[in-house]
Amino acid sequence: MAAMRAALFLDKGGVGKTTGTAHLGTALEKEGYRTLLIDLAGKQGDLSKHFGLWEELQAEDRWPNIATTFQDEWSIVVEKLDSALEDLIIETEEGPDIIPAHGSLDGLDAVLANIDEPAERYGRLDAFLTEYVDDDYDVILLDLPGSTSNIAYNGLWAARNVIAPVRPGPFEAGQAAQLRQDLDDIHEEQGVTIELTMVLLNEVDERTKAGRRYLEEFASEYPDAIAPAQIPSSQDIQNAQMDGTVLWSLERPSKTAQRAMAAYEEDARALIARLGGGN
Ligand SMILES: Nc1ncnc2c1ncn2[C@@H]1O[C@H](COP(=O)(O)OP(=O)(O)OP(=O)(O)O)[C@@H](O)[C@H]1O
Ligand SMILES: [Mg+2]
Repeated sequence: MAAMRAALFLDKGGVGKTTGTAHLGTALEKEGYRTLLIDLAGKQGDLSKHFGLWEELQAEDRWPNIATTFQDEWSIVVEKLDSALEDLIIETEEGPDIIPAHGSLDGLDAVLANIDEPAERYGRLDAFLTEYVDDDYDVILLDLPGSTSNIAYNGLWAARNVIAPVRPGPFEAGQAAQLRQDLDDIHEEQGVTIELTMVLLNEVDERTKAGRRYLEEFASEYPDAIAPAQIPSSQDIQNAQMDGTVLWSLERPSKTAQRAMAAYEEDARALIARLGGGN
């Protein structure tokens, strides 16, 4: 059976795409779903930092890597190298498997820009996942860059479902409106439909007045997409990242960390239902 797929995306930096990918991915594993996370967000390797892989990755130049899978030679690589997929995908202690980002994604974006045919330009990741990866996983989550690019479009084409983390601030409503515009443009220009599957309010505390106001605003604007649970701001999220792990691995999680874990777990279950899985 094909894996359910979703991409964490918002046309804005620092909203919680990577944090959301790592934590929803780990929550999905805890719910019993075999989960693969793919970092398309660039060479700083943020996603791998949540799984203690960053130093190891910096020390070696991995090949094959995520950029290899976009290339025409990929089918030959798989044919000649029995371990190609095992070399590409890393298992984590926290649960999900991960395909880390790689520096050559930047150059790849420029190469894709020279291809005219939309399906050829934006459909490469989809083709790779469908042929080589889908059968081994229940869910695939993609961590996308905070701006539109050929790589981001490949992620959106492959997932067809967006989880948009939104962080409150003076422009929060505009961020989500921009995303709707982006998805409409893709529909017009590239001919594919991408659903806004989940709006994930990050760093919002429903117990405060401001938090409830944000929630109400987004719930009325996105009644079908709003996530059932909001993610509170938690210093432990940053502590976990600095320790190279996710919240569930902390020995003494704070109260806010516990609430964040429960929220991610609830949202992970809702995500499965919205992607048409579960029972
Ligand atoms: N709920 C939260 N509580 C506290 N800190 C958080 C929370 N969510 C995210 N952060 C912190 O905010 C920063 C930005 O988060 P993150 O890296 O997930 O955003 P991003 O959208 O992936 O950014 P980029 O566009 O740069 O890839 C990180 O340092 C992260 O640890
Ligand atoms: Mg990120």
